[in-house]
Amino acid sequence: LRVAVLISGTGSNLKSLLDARDAGRLDLDFVRVISNRANAPGLAHARAANIPWSVIDKASAGDVGQDRVVGDTLAADAPDLVLLSGYMRILGAELVDRFEGRMINQHPSLLPKYKGLHTYQRALDAGDSEHGASVHFVTSELDGGPVIAQVRIGVQADDDATSLAARLRPLEHRLLEEVMALFTQRRVTMDGEGVRVDDRNI
Ligand code: GRF
Repeated sequence: LRVAVLISGTGSNLKSLLDARDAGRLDLDFVRVISNRANAPGLAHARAANIPWSVIDKASAGDVGQDRVVGDTLAADAPDLVLLSGYMRILGAELVDRFEGRMINQHPSLLPKYKGLHTYQRALDAGDSEHGASVHFVTSELDGGPVIAQVRIGVQADDDATSLAARLRPLEHRLLEEVMALFTQRRVTMDGEGVRVDDRNI
């Protein structure tokens, strides 16, 4: 599966996918990593793994606009799937439409709860007994596209946002690996009716 990954930060999810590929668990061909931040630590993973990478920020995109440059860059690499992995920019409808059905996002909440930012703190403030992470198709509604899969963890009495995030992170990695496996096996699709997961023999 040809995959492009968009990041803004640490890229721990990217790293875990690279490890899964290197261990022979995932048949992924990383065609490009794009960051909107030149100093995103996650770019080091792309460099180390010899994956083509680009920084596309406001300045480099200029008058053409970031979404257009991101879209054209992605299109040139012809990915089967575009993964937004901690990419902290909201995409415009034109870019979303260009890749609809082929673009997924990771979000650290049990969607449809807590779209947007500060999901851990919001779950704690609400007194939730569980929290989690989702992988979903990207549509023009922010964090609102159909959910493919989720993972849940219990909230502990002494949790703060940092501890909750730290406990969720490895589970998020595993969730992402499972979802990517479904895509490599062509077992997940989205159409007008929503997501279809062929979950035979998961
Ligand atoms: C993940 O928690 C993801 O759900 C959120 O951003 C984080 C990315 O982490 N959207 P990393 O950059 O992969 O370490």
